[in-house]
Amino acid sequence: MSSHGTAPLTPQHVMPNQPLKYAAELHKTALAIGASGKGLLAADESTGSIKKRLEGVGKENTEDNRREWRDLLFTAEGKYEDYVSGVITFEETLMKHDSQLQDSKYKGQSFVEILKKRGVIPGIKVDKGTVVLPRTAPEETSTQGLDGLLERCQQYYERGARFTKWRTTYTVSESTPSTQAIEANAEALARYAAISQQAGLVPIVEPEVLMAGDFNIQRSMEAHIAAYSVLFQKLALHKVDLAGLVLKASMVVCGDKQGKATPEEVGEATIHALSKTVPPLVPTIVFLSGGFSDSESISYLNSINKVKQANPNRAPWALTFSFGRALQGVAMKAWAKGDIKDAQTKWVDRAKWSSAASQGKYNGECPS
Ligand code: 13P
Repeated sequence: MSSHGTAPLTPQHVMPNQPLKYAAELHKTALAIGASGKGLLAADESTGSIKKRLEGVGKENTEDNRREWRDLLFTAEGKYEDYVSGVITFEETLMKHDSQLQDSKYKGQSFVEILKKRGVIPGIKVDKGTVVLPRTAPEETSTQGLDGLLERCQQYYERGARFTKWRTTYTVSESTPSTQAIEANAEALARYAAISQQAGLVPIVEPEVLMAGDFNIQRSMEAHIAAYSVLFQKLALHKVDLAGLVLKASMVVCGDKQGKATPEEVGEATIHALSKTVPPLVPTIVFLSGGFSDSESISYLNSINKVKQANPNRAPWALTFSFGRALQGVAMKAWAKGDIKDAQTKWVDRAKWSSAASQGKYNGECPS
């Protein structure tokens, strides 16, 4: 009894859950994202992020160029839908753009309709980017975007989206990621995930551990374990249904100033970090490519799946890709040279090899 004579409070998260309206649909979507041999195309670069990619190949960051680039990805003749379960889009792609390429058989149709017709699930990035966390040194960040999120999510569902993504980032150094950054970001990720589920959209929670820096693979593993442990506590606190959730994970690697780990080391370290922290109820884990080349990202994913196959009890989740740069980088260069067909072939090839890697069956075909 407290001094007021009331019973001690029962923590909310151990009380029986209120029913979640979309629970069955969320679970189905989370499973579909990680269906055997399939993964995601991350084409959700914000207008600021795609500027870097476009300018990197000599293209201006105009709305027309952003539309044309995504137009050629989505309307490719090659059957990327055999390898890709969903596409993460940015708002203007989902809500506004349609196909305008000259010889596109989809001309005039909205991108969201094209994806749906091809059996690919549309999703959308809903965070509003990172800001500096005050008084952190070295500087760390938190991610913005919770205000008005439910209303936005309801509009995206109405338009046809079935999942969302929210990205937080962690730097690794002797003193980071700090408890301050991990707690702040995990809290925001969990609140975002609860809101997304409320609107019927599977949340893809992305606590990205950045690879820039001077640290070994053991230190990266510690950072991943610290970030994931707090994330899953916060997800429980906010009553997020883990069966209707996808984790977007970074691969456990050494910092870029320490060279490159082998695919075998990355596979083992990544499975170790996940097996310590991610509940088996989560259906699907997808990996970002994080700035590694296409061939490296695909080899690492293959190795992760080989470790899983050697001992499936350690890794009960589907482990697949949600690559941005690894699927688009080489293709974007071909487009900048004026060859749309070649660009389309190059991206669909990378989707095919990533699909093989998600089954541990990749044979090294991607040129390095
Ligand atoms: P990369 O694969 O280029 O890292 O992008 C994936 C992504 O969506 C990061 O949020």
